[in-house]
Amino acid sequence: MSRDPREAYLALCQELAEHDRRYYVDAAPTIADVEYDRLLAEVRAVEAAHPEWIVPWSPTRRVGHQPLEGFVKVVRPVPMLSLDNTYGEDDLRAFHERVVKGLDGDEPDYSIEPKIDGFGIELTYAAGELSLAATRGDGTIGEDVTANVRTIRAIPQRLREPVDVVVRGEIYMAKDVFVRLNAQRAAAGEEPFKNPRNLAAGSIKLLDPREVARRPMSAILYEVVDGERLASGHLASLAVIRRLGIPTSAENQRVRGWEALTEVVAAWATRRDALPYEVDGLVIKVDSFEQRAALGATSKFPRWAIAYKFPARQVTTRVRTLEVNVGRTGAVTPVAILEPVEVSGTTVQRVSLHNWDQVARLGIGDGDRVLIEKAGEIIPQVLGVTERAATARWTAPAACPSCGAALERSEDRVVLACANRLGCPAQRLAAIEFFAGRGQMNIDGLGEKLVAQLVDAGLVTDVADLFDLTVEPLARLDRMGEQSAKNLVAALAAARGQATFGRLLAALGIAHVGGVLARPIAARYGSLSRLLAAADATTSEELVAQLVEIEGVGEVIAVAVDRFLRDPHARAVMDKLVARGVDPAEPVAAPATGPLAGKTFVVTGTLSAPRPRIQARIEAAGGKVAGAVTKKTDFLVAGADTGKTKLDAASKHGVPVLDEAGLERLLAGDPGDAGDPGAPPAA
Ligand code: IVH
Repeated sequence: MSRDPREAYLALCQELAEHDRRYYVDAAPTIADVEYDRLLAEVRAVEAAHPEWIVPWSPTRRVGHQPLEGFVKVVRPVPMLSLDNTYGEDDLRAFHERVVKGLDGDEPDYSIEPKIDGFGIELTYAAGELSLAATRGDGTIGEDVTANVRTIRAIPQRLREPVDVVVRGEIYMAKDVFVRLNAQRAAAGEEPFKNPRNLAAGSIKLLDPREVARRPMSAILYEVVDGERLASGHLASLAVIRRLGIPTSAENQRVRGWEALTEVVAAWATRRDALPYEVDGLVIKVDSFEQRAALGATSKFPRWAIAYKFPARQVTTRVRTLEVNVGRTGAVTPVAILEPVEVSGTTVQRVSLHNWDQVARLGIGDGDRVLIEKAGEIIPQVLGVTERAATARWTAPAACPSCGAALERSEDRVVLACANRLGCPAQRLAAIEFFAGRGQMNIDGLGEKLVAQLVDAGLVTDVADLFDLTVEPLARLDRMGEQSAKNLVAALAAARGQATFGRLLAALGIAHVGGVLARPIAARYGSLSRLLAAADATTSEELVAQLVEIEGVGEVIAVAVDRFLRDPHARAVMDKLVARGVDPAEPVAAPATGPLAGKTFVVTGTLSAPRPRIQARIEAAGGKVAGAVTKKTDFLVAGADTGKTKLDAASKHGVPVLDEAGLERLLAGDPGDAGDPGAPPAA
């Protein structure tokens, strides 16, 4: 039976929304990620052919292509109140007694919920479609962050029924994502975020939705505005919105009576650590809407709910010494070694101080007593010195503690780094660990300790040596044995067999080139040996020009790749890899799809938006962006003050010149008037 193709398109969008729901609301996905991606690619293909069919709730619309100018203010009729805080059992009892008194002696049912440490949000659905996502702001006036909230896949863009409903909840960054993103920031020499809440709040307020999409967030909705329209009680109203496809917490518990209340609250002291997101307390709410109405609110807080804050997790301990760490990228970072101390369930004895400015700010030295906290309950941090004992304060070293090379400051002066790269033993060790690690070559069983052991034993000096390892010398290592040695050799063979060029490239640890960027580069060159051949056949300038034509690769990245390929130590390692047959090949990229597929653009002059943004839009529409006008250029997009050289080149090669309006027409899929060969842009 053939179906109207537009209907089929809508059904496909619907199907993807349903998969999002199964994944994020039910936590029970029914298809594999690759299958999901295949369906999504199908939607993209249909939309490229029929842009007029695109619905706002299409899964492809989650990431807008346009950065925002700013956020529009929204005024809400029902203010978002905050909650009164309590800290201990006495406060909690006082709350309970006030509630019982307010209800003329009735014991209410309470809902006990984790207090998610994220960013408050209000979602408005009109006829089932997400029409507005607004921040809390001052309660009455918030900001419209809909474009950014759409990037969060846990939040449905369309409900399962066409209802009008307003819900409130929390956007959060899961703990593991927080740790990962912060590690990336630290590696890039940026100041890490203090906790997942700050990172979520900072991310939702970014102006570029594409940037937001790179910071995966999730959401839990915990209140229905005017919930009495849906049910007689709060938990029942949450069950209704959950059926509509809105993610709610599976942790909420109904209790009645003081005994049950304190029991559940006490149990949370240990439960909180098991959750994938940060919880800074509990929220205790009267369930019945009728009872809520009877209790009312003060000007600031409802009388029917209270926040119960968990005790802060800060402790003091003494500093033993400073350890200077050399990372994979050469960054030389200070680590404080502490007298071991318990903080929220784990023993802490090393704390990164991030950078040398922080060391100077703290004025810290051997023997000082410091206050530490687990930031976002995960990463310990030094908050300050509480007792000075040090005779000398720590300062930045002048030379690399591993290889003795002089250290250099990064451009922004925050990072101190050893530029000796693979010539530095510490960086070599870190490079091998990274190569073997999860997300890179995934070599089972080859962790930090074993890598250090292999290097110490002289069995390995670089990543290529890993593939020469044989059972016999391995089995002679301490704590190794025949079987583990066999397993490692098998794991190496498996990793070699399964590696794609993209994975291999990312595993090499080139600055800025992670798994995402490695893919298009891999697709352009096909294999490591071909990439090396390309480097041999070009000058740095030529190679950089080639690289920036790849989608997602900008100047900084291209320069980093070029530098890596021409670094003598790195090159020796890559040659060794190829010589050992670690040189997986993959097909060279299929042409992109979109209205600009197969077209190469050069963008120049002053335009209404920064050039990288315009370039990104061209790339998103399937086009390529190059640096210089050649006979292969299809269009020159010329803004104000376009130089004569570019225009002359366009004229020489017969390349049509477009102004911004012309580009917009092409982006909109209108081939129309293809522009004026070699003529200056219209004023
Ligand atoms: S209910 C009037 N429930 O904590 C009741 N809030 O100071 C409004 N929060 O602004 C809030 N988890 O951002 C509620 N399960 C939960 C919550 C929760 C986190 C946040 C929310 C609110 C703040 C209270």
